[in-house]
Amino acid sequence: MSVKPHVLTERGIFRYEQVTYPMEERGLQFGDGVYEVVRLYSGAYVWLQEHLDRLYRSAAAIRLSVPFAPEELSERLEQLRRMNDVREDAILYLQVTRGSFPRSHTFPTENRPNLYAYIQPMARKTDEIAHGVHATLTKDVRWEYCYIKSLNLLPNVLAKQEAAERGAFEAILHRDGIVTEGSSSNIFLVKDETVYTHPATERILNGIVRTRVKQFCGELGIPFIEEAFSVHDLARADELFLTSTTSAITPIVQVDDITIGDGRPGAVTKSLQAAYQKATQPAASNA
Ligand code: PDD
Repeated sequence: MSVKPHVLTERGIFRYEQVTYPMEERGLQFGDGVYEVVRLYSGAYVWLQEHLDRLYRSAAAIRLSVPFAPEELSERLEQLRRMNDVREDAILYLQVTRGSFPRSHTFPTENRPNLYAYIQPMARKTDEIAHGVHATLTKDVRWEYCYIKSLNLLPNVLAKQEAAERGAFEAILHRDGIVTEGSSSNIFLVKDETVYTHPATERILNGIVRTRVKQFCGELGIPFIEEAFSVHDLARADELFLTSTTSAITPIVQVDDITIGDGRPGAVTKSLQAAYQKATQPAASNA
């Protein structure tokens, strides 16, 4: 389904057709910007504040200023949601770039960042969430600052395309055999009822859903260990799952020719899915 008609920009809310940017936009020419994707269930934002906090952190890491102060941005996004009369499951896409200036690698002397945010309907991936997905292993060739949610997504795009061409839902990235994360998700391995995932270092994006999974594990008494695992550990895993704003908690039942556990979503994954469901329901009822 297409984008909702009202779009937030650094200059206010406009109709989609009215929002254009010059060719010399630094996001287009250099990927010089940062972004966020926020979930909406039944028209209500899920964990918006956490996403905005990460947006400001990503921006600060590349010395970029976000056009609005945090509280104002939050209010404007609420206004955007109301103006679009969003009631369904959707996502908000929000990006900030260093602006539009004659092409030069160095920062522009003027501080005139661009921002746009739009809402697009997106159904829950119920089939994948219920039955699990296949993944493929790919080398992680990205840079050292993966904790920044940067617009430079070419390695992620190439990895995801490779996965799609192999009939897989996600590409699991590894650096010298150590699993970092997915091309657009975080990856978790379950062994002996303990959840393992790569620590939140500069090598991964610390996902908003990842942080919640850590919390759910605490609440459910499931040990959560932030310790990297290797591609060899996959063969011995009981369960494997991925998390992201768009895919929630999705079981991975096969990685290339390795079947994970008995090839079906496992008990730990299911209990975390139930916790996710419960945590995201109150947001939906506020709509
Ligand atoms: N991607 N790691 C990477 C590289 C990601 O791009 C994402 C999310 C995640 C999960 O983060 P979160 O739980 O905050 O969504 C991890 C978004 C959804 C995207 O680019 O579409």
